[in-house]
Amino acid sequence: MAIDKKFVDQLAIVTSKAALASSYLVGKKDKIAADKAAVDSMRSDLNNLDIQGQIVIGEGELDKAPMLYIGEKLGSNKGPEFDIAVDPLEGTNFVANNLPGALSVITIAEKNNLFKAPETYMEKISARVNESGVIDLDFTIKKNINNLSDYLNKNPENLTACILDRPRHKEIIEELIKLKVNLKLITDGDVSGALLVTEDKYNVDIFLGIGGGPEGVLAAAALDAYNCNFQGRFLFETDEDKSRASDMGITDLKRKYDLNEIVSGDSIFCATGITSGDLVPGIKIEDNKFTSETFVTHKSSGLKKVIKLKQNI
Ligand code: FBP
Repeated sequence: MAIDKKFVDQLAIVTSKAALASSYLVGKKDKIAADKAAVDSMRSDLNNLDIQGQIVIGEGELDKAPMLYIGEKLGSNKGPEFDIAVDPLEGTNFVANNLPGALSVITIAEKNNLFKAPETYMEKISARVNESGVIDLDFTIKKNINNLSDYLNKNPENLTACILDRPRHKEIIEELIKLKVNLKLITDGDVSGALLVTEDKYNVDIFLGIGGGPEGVLAAAALDAYNCNFQGRFLFETDEDKSRASDMGITDLKRKYDLNEIVSGDSIFCATGITSGDLVPGIKIEDNKFTSETFVTHKSSGLKKVIKLKQNI
């Protein structure tokens, strides 16, 4: 069943207020306080909504994080049942160091339609491609780039690849340079990175590399509304990771997941800018009011836009 459109506005207010709460900590060199401010705000606002929500991706497990932990029930316990994925502050370094690109992010889907992702790394790939077999985690970088170049009818030297600037990506980056692909290296924030493939105006053709698993699931929900392709494969390195995965019902630890295995049915995605970035501008405060801009998608209604709100503080 489709999710009522009214939740788009309600959730955009939730992420806007979480973004405002975190914005007071911009440039204070305190990642933990910035995250806590966003978490507290988001949790209390979600509890005021008429929903029966349950966190499937949040701030960790019950024993480690008392707020927005995986399994926590949220809402007034009246209304539709939703799976909820949150990243109240995506880009803790951005807020701590007053850098562009911090977001407050939420996704809801119909109950049992969002992948319960463990907090491990995920190998990811996304592009504005509406058919299978063009990009694939199992292809070499060269094959992905050549296929994409044919699909988009653009030479590799006119393609741009977005990837987290990390030593673990040295070989991928070297290969992209060899293929003459333009790079967009990001220091953090790969929810935004993955979403830059959604529209021409961002000038990114492919996103790839290893980042957080929860961030991958969040991005997948927005990419679904754009009919963009996404694949993810969790990387379970330690024994603890492996046993957590099996507790969550994951049996094949090396499995590659397609977008529709990560999110299915209807979903809403909201990402409000805290500091201005590629996707949306950040929070602006004037007198007793604040302005927020939120990138939203709603799969069933085809809604994809930026909502600008001016609210009282
Ligand atoms: P935080 O907001 O939790 O600091 O995450 C930022 C981030 O850059 C994510 O966007 C990304 O998925 C992940 O960290 C990458 O992890 P790492 O910094 O370990 O490479």
